[in-house]
Amino acid sequence: MNDYQSLINWYPGHMAKTRRLLQDQIKRIDLIIEICDARLPMSSRNPELAEMIARKRHLLFMNKSDLADPTMNKAWIRYFQGQGIEAFLTDATKMRGKETISLIDRATKEMVDKALAKGVRKTVRAMIIGIPNVGKSTLINRLYGRNIAQIGDRPGVTKSNQWVRVSPYLELLDTPGLLWPKLNDQLSARRLCYIGSVKDDVVDLTELTIHLLEDLCEIVPKNVEERFHIKDTTLKGAELIEAVCAGRGWLLRGAQYDYDRCCSVVLDEFRAGKLGRITVEKPINQTDRENDAND
Ligand code: G4P
Repeated sequence: MNDYQSLINWYPGHMAKTRRLLQDQIKRIDLIIEICDARLPMSSRNPELAEMIARKRHLLFMNKSDLADPTMNKAWIRYFQGQGIEAFLTDATKMRGKETISLIDRATKEMVDKALAKGVRKTVRAMIIGIPNVGKSTLINRLYGRNIAQIGDRPGVTKSNQWVRVSPYLELLDTPGLLWPKLNDQLSARRLCYIGSVKDDVVDLTELTIHLLEDLCEIVPKNVEERFHIKDTTLKGAELIEAVCAGRGWLLRGAQYDYDRCCSVVLDEFRAGKLGRITVEKPINQTDRENDAND
C-alpha cells in the first residue's frame, strides 16, 4: 500500500474550511446531522467532530444501511445507543424528505416546546456533516425534493453556505460540512478506500484489492466463493487475487492474470453491493480494534 502522507498533507485546507464553517455557523445551528457509512461505522466517523460541536443536539445517520448487513446494522444501533448517541439506519437514495424532517422534529421537540412556552415559534436550523461519499448531498437533495447539492461532489467545489427553508419551521444549511477521514490510521484509511471515501488514485490498487478480498473471505466466504468462482477462501495475497482472476476468466494473452480488470471489477462490485450486504467493521472496543490493526 502506498504511503498516505501526501493525502494527510492535502487535507488540512479542508479541515480549516470545515472548522471555519462550524465556527461561523455553530451559534445558529440547533441540530447537527452526522452521516457515516453503515458498512464502516467506526472509520467513517471523525473523532474530532464531538469536540467541534460541543454539546449541540446531534443525530447520527448510518447511511447506505441498504448495503450493510441487517444484523450488524442492529448491533451498531445498540452500540451507539450504549454510547448515548442517537443513531438511525438510513438509505438516502430512498428516504423521503418527510422522514428526515420528522426525525429532526422529534430531536428538536424539547427546544421548540421551550421556545413555545415563551411565546416564540422557533425555526430549527440543521446542518449535515460527514466525510466524503457517505451520502450528504443525496440526503440534502431528498430533503429539498430537488437537486441542489452536487452529488458525487469533489472537495473544493464552490458552495454558497445559505440557509434554505425545507419546511415552515426548518432551515438547512445548503453546504454539507465536509469532514476529513482518518488517514493517519492505516487500517481505517484502507477501509475508507474500499467504500470510495478516499480516492483510488492515491493507493496501490492491487494491494487494496488483495486486502479487500482477504477481508471479504473472512466476513462472507460463501459470497466470495460464489461471486468469484473460487474454491479456497483461505488463500492470501497474490494467490488469492490470481484465483479470482482464474475464476472469473480475467486473463490476458499468454495466460497472464489481468490484475487491472480484477481490481476494478472487485472494487466496483463490492461498492455496488453485488457481493451482498456486508458490514466491514464490527462494534468492538478500541483495544480489540488495535489488536486487529496489528494483525
Ligand atoms: P457525499 O455528498 O457525502 O460526498 O455523497 P453523495 O451524496 O454524493 O453520494 C455518494 C454516492 O453514494 C452516490 O452515488 C449516491 O447515489 C450514493 N448513495 C448515497 N446514499 C446512499 C444510500 O443510502 N444507499 C446507497 N446504496 N447509495 C447511496 P454515485 O454513484 O457517486 O452517484 P450517482 O451515480 O448515484 O449519482
